[in-house]
Amino acid sequence: MSAPSKPPRRSQAWFGRDGKQGFYYRSWLKGLGLPHEMFDGRPVIGICNTWSELTPCNSSFRELAEHVKRGVYEAGGFPLEFPVMSLGETQMRPTAMLFRNLASMDVEESIRANPIDGVVLLMGCDKTTPSLLMGAASVDLPAIGVSGGPSLSGNWRGKPVGSGTGVIEMSEMVRAGTLSQDEFTEAEACMQRSKGSCMTMGTASTMASMVEALGMSLPENAAIPAVDSRRFRLAHLSGRRIVEMVREDLRMSKVLTRKAFANAIRANAAIGGSTNAVIHLLAIAGRLGVPLTLDDWDAIGSRLPCLVNLKPSGEYLMEDFYYAGGLPAVLREISQHLDLDALTVNGLTLGENIADAPCWNRDVIRPLDQPLRPEAGIAVLRGNLAPDGAVLKPSAASPHLLKHRGRAVVFEDIKDFKARIDDEALEIDEHSIMVLKHCGPRGYPGMAEVGNMPLPPKLLRRGITDLVRISDARMSGTAYGTVVLHVSPEAAAGGPLALVREGDFIELDVPGRRLHLDVSDAELARRRAEWTPPPAPARGWSKLYVETVQQAHLGADLDFLVGGSGDTVAGDSH
Ligand code: FES
Repeated sequence: MSAPSKPPRRSQAWFGRDGKQGFYYRSWLKGLGLPHEMFDGRPVIGICNTWSELTPCNSSFRELAEHVKRGVYEAGGFPLEFPVMSLGETQMRPTAMLFRNLASMDVEESIRANPIDGVVLLMGCDKTTPSLLMGAASVDLPAIGVSGGPSLSGNWRGKPVGSGTGVIEMSEMVRAGTLSQDEFTEAEACMQRSKGSCMTMGTASTMASMVEALGMSLPENAAIPAVDSRRFRLAHLSGRRIVEMVREDLRMSKVLTRKAFANAIRANAAIGGSTNAVIHLLAIAGRLGVPLTLDDWDAIGSRLPCLVNLKPSGEYLMEDFYYAGGLPAVLREISQHLDLDALTVNGLTLGENIADAPCWNRDVIRPLDQPLRPEAGIAVLRGNLAPDGAVLKPSAASPHLLKHRGRAVVFEDIKDFKARIDDEALEIDEHSIMVLKHCGPRGYPGMAEVGNMPLPPKLLRRGITDLVRISDARMSGTAYGTVVLHVSPEAAAGGPLALVREGDFIELDVPGRRLHLDVSDAELARRRAEWTPPPAPARGWSKLYVETVQQAHLGADLDFLVGGSGDTVAGDSH
């Protein structure tokens, strides 16, 4: 009996054609100078590139793509690089997050529409990672992630300056009058010292770590600096590997199982990762139909310790993390908590990949029995103020505020906050709880990173550096504080957050996972009857987004993008 024949390579539905159709599909590509044998059925590898000068964190990606191509050619594949929408976190208004789902559609349709058998995802700046994973997951071809890597450590006047974290610290010093504007401007040029993503354990580094912990990249992907030759070596090896993955038919859905997501959630706790990972992983899981809920974040990861001593939770930066052993050393340290048989893109299990991972610096990567914080992860809070949940990152919070009752100082939206926060007459003290509304997915729109509201100067001058802050916004992974985020449903969707008024008392109980607005049900019903929804955008992407975006506890994907379309596309283009 003969062995069952393999289905023909996907790209052969284009390049393996006779007659007029085959002529169309091959001829224009031959215009690039390609010989006929490139169309002979070898794996065609798409290199999905988010390079853009408007995304400076990804500005090394042209070079990175060339190294991927070397590996693809070497393994007998046919690389074709293509651009997708790039999301520059620092430049895009009103927030790059407004466009994560749009970029994911670009990725999905670019892969689906083209003669691609496998894809290499080049990603770095915050939203470029989830948008590529989400889009590729909805097609479910073999895919491998290559992150761009963090920039070199910031250094100002001999002291380390971390991306984002340093800006927040120094801007508070300017507002408190302890740092001059000239010094602040000088520090601007000392923070981002090279190409690469933020070099704190912010969202970009967190998401690169998630890619590795999920098994979607080769080991060490998370931490190699962007300009280190070993980053280009990793790109080269990833190019080689994706060709083999196509031959093995190792699709994303075989790697991104519930086990893989559970491993990533645990890894997020151990690295002191960004709260943004919560929303992104929920959205990625949704594309693949993997059951994952907001409560899984608390149940799976919240009792694990934080081992990685990186800003904003600790003191070091990503370069130090790489030299200390990077993510493999962390995963090995928490291996007793991981599903070690989860498959990764190199064909080995996670356990096999990390079995011998060394650690070279125990102050940067702490041992499990001497953690930086004993309980990290993400705390999921519920109560009458957040019926569908809210999140808080205990490792970045002040221990004395984790159980707190205080009077609400309410800002109706971000404009209201900016207009009043510096007002010396603002009635606020160290016991107050700051509340910010209308910054969620629909409200901002796009759920901006404004949840870590700067404190009023009059408190900063008294040396007060943290207050409980509550909003339906997100916060930068580089930020810190006792900040309750992602309150769901959001104010703009009529969530109870919309009903909070100045002077109400709020109870935060992180150990009890409770967030309670101390107002009677009858009074809340009276306020609800007076509530009217804010006006919605009238046209374009914002209109479609606001009409279809899901709430934060579901991952803030568009409702019609959940799930996948697969890789089959009927019909020729001519
Ligand atoms: Fe791009 Fe931080 S702003 S990675």
